[in-house]
Amino acid sequence: MARRGSFIAFEGIDGSGKGTQIRKLKKKLEKGGFPVFRTAEPNDSPIGNLIHQIMIGRVKTTNDVIAALFVADRLDHIENDVNGLLKFLNQGINVITDRYYFSSYAYQSVDLPMDWIINANRPAAELLRPDVTVFIDVDPQVTMERIEKNRMTKELFEQTDRLIETRKRYFEAFEKLKDTEKILVVNGDRDPDEIAEEIWEKIGGMFAK
Ligand code: ADP
Ligand code: TYD
Repeated sequence: MARRGSFIAFEGIDGSGKGTQIRKLKKKLEKGGFPVFRTAEPNDSPIGNLIHQIMIGRVKTTNDVIAALFVADRLDHIENDVNGLLKFLNQGINVITDRYYFSSYAYQSVDLPMDWIINANRPAAELLRPDVTVFIDVDPQVTMERIEKNRMTKELFEQTDRLIETRKRYFEAFEKLKDTEKILVVNGDRDPDEIAEEIWEKIGGMFAK
């Protein structure tokens, strides 16, 4: 069955404003009569919950296991028949996800070769490629300040040095995959409404009735 909904992935380092922009885009689409399912990775699933335990330091494991768990969580997110993404898209519902495989390419490639991760995610890429990936670009020092202002605890990858490496790897992955992926990079260090306007200007056309 040909899928009819659009699939948009938001990417960015921790605290870059993905959640804020997804909320705004969802509101705008729903106002225009376009149904939206909002979701995230790691997903709210048994595998996603295990990843969360690792992120908060309750469960310890190795980097290759973490990378493999993200692959498993992603495939389950796409394929499961209760709330899997293909099911929504095939019904004509648009899907916006907070993180998708570029998160793995960027975060896991700090510890593992990027090609290993891209290859491991190939089944997901072949099953479901985003119509567009929106990358919200913010300096890691700025996002760490935002995180420190808003939260008492930090997760596994939430350190400035680590996020500097991760941001670099996002751009490496975009360059590597520029022929097969549609990527929109926006400056995320300005007024949230201004960012939302630019995103709408660049991708709103996908939803013309
Ligand atoms: P993410 O989902 O990428 O972690 P959030 O949308 O949760 O990011 O934003 C992280 C924090 O930064 C929140 O406290 C949010 O209110 C704030 N924030 C989001 N966008 C901006 C922005 N453009 N400028 C300043 N602060 C922002
Ligand atoms: P997220 O739920 O976005 O963080 P939070 O709820 O704390 O804002 O993601 C949790 C962490 O998982 C985040 O640091 C990014 C990381 N991550 C990966 O390392 N690889 C992946 O493939 C994904 C989807 C997330």
